[in-house]
Amino acid sequence: MEIKVATGDITRFEADAIVVNFFEGREHPEGDTAAVDKALDGAISQLIGRGEIKGKLNEITVIHSLGKLPAAKVVVVGLGKQEELSLNKVRGAVAETCRLLRKKSVRNMATVAQGEGIAGISAEVSAQAIAEGALLGVYAFRRHVTRPAEHGELEQLTVVSADRDKIAGLEQGCQKGRILAEATNLARDMVNEPANYMTPGDMAEMASRLAETHGLEFNVLEREQMQELGMGALLGVAQGSQQPPKFIILNYKGSDSKEIDVALLGKGITFDSGGISIKPSEGMGEMKGDMAGGAAVIAAMSAIAQLKPRINVLALVPATENLPSGSALKPADILTSMSGKTIEIISTDAEGRLILADALGYASKQGARLIVDVATLTGACRVALGDICTGAFGNNQELIDKIISAGTEAGERIWQMPMYEEYKEQNKSDVADIKNTGGRYAGAITAAQFLAEFAGDTPWVHLDIAGKEMSDKERNHLVKGATGVPVRTLVNLVLALAK
Ligand code: BES
Ligand code: MN
Ligand code: ZN
Repeated sequence: MEIKVATGDITRFEADAIVVNFFEGREHPEGDTAAVDKALDGAISQLIGRGEIKGKLNEITVIHSLGKLPAAKVVVVGLGKQEELSLNKVRGAVAETCRLLRKKSVRNMATVAQGEGIAGISAEVSAQAIAEGALLGVYAFRRHVTRPAEHGELEQLTVVSADRDKIAGLEQGCQKGRILAEATNLARDMVNEPANYMTPGDMAEMASRLAETHGLEFNVLEREQMQELGMGALLGVAQGSQQPPKFIILNYKGSDSKEIDVALLGKGITFDSGGISIKPSEGMGEMKGDMAGGAAVIAAMSAIAQLKPRINVLALVPATENLPSGSALKPADILTSMSGKTIEIISTDAEGRLILADALGYASKQGARLIVDVATLTGACRVALGDICTGAFGNNQELIDKIISAGTEAGERIWQMPMYEEYKEQNKSDVADIKNTGGRYAGAITAAQFLAEFAGDTPWVHLDIAGKEMSDKERNHLVKGATGVPVRTLVNLVLALAK
């Protein structure tokens, strides 16, 4: 979809549909909506008077202009109560509107800068939210579908403003929104691919292609190099699979210093059967998405490379399958991680923390100053938070706070979980330095406490996105399937750290 900006009068704009808005609780249309109402001889006012347009959030009313203006359709989107407006609501309302118009065979649409001037929303951030809402909202994963789609595609969206001074801002916003949405959709593509199309090797290839396109440094460690580095935890998980594991490394250099300002780590389990501690067959297919953290990190790097903040970022994605076989890891086995710490395997299904232990070891050895890891780590976190927000765990409140606000900005909610010392008790092992599971209770926290052992003193935050990587329904900017969470949060964080 092409996203453009134009100066002029929205009522005169030639498109299949033009989109204006209405706030809940108002009696009359205002601003651009009033101008369009006038051109329609009061049709919008009448619908408001009859209670057909209430302005409730995501209420979408399509009015046929019958030749009264150049656009065939006028769309009035409800933005809820004006005093409760947020950027997130704009993003969601635009997504819902685009999906509806696509069904109505609209190819070319125009919109005002939704929400601009309200709730501190500038022209630039309004345009960014519009671009994100449109591109994320009409995303579809059709790579393996050969039958034709039920509807055509939206081809063009223009943000129209009468104010020339706002054009530059609108253009910048559209550009940033496009970069962020395309990165998110890239992560969605990777997560939606089943495991036979997204092996560790495929993930590495994807990272390599992005590096080539956007000018990132790319490296991949093969099994032999993992052995040399002593990555026994990652190798332990990989030993049951026929697919060779890959330790994917992307490097973005935006500042002259030699320091790694921040390392982004992502869990890259391309399929999690549970291994010898095998999962029940029902729903096991969901575990094709167990590389969502890794996909988010790789995709975020592609956006970072385009936005060019003055900061150095290292991305690490340990990638492997977790499968049972004659060579697979077994409960009670003991592994030695890169850090030298030994791990007693209680469940081979607690594999995410094992591969991340070695990624944390690698990041520490490289001297990363901050570490953020993203993982579909525990069913327990999904039980605790559902699909509404991600769990954040860490050893540094300042970094946690920054990530939470980066998430709020992105409309990807994050909730901090407790890390009391006492939880560590559950991970104690009699035969090794630590166990890989701490029992049923507080499972998300004991998993995070396990990771904390490998993060050491470096300021570190762990985001448990289990259950957030996939959506079971269309909702605002999300569609059914992969969500691309938390790509935009990671990019926002890096941009904020660079300031
Ligand atoms: N990949 C799963 C966690 C998961 C669950 C992700 C649901 C997405 C949706 C993880 O590797 C896992 O199997 N965790 C176990 C840990 C347990 C064995 C301590 C779990 O949560 O059951
Ligand atoms: Mn598992
Ligand atoms: Zn897993």
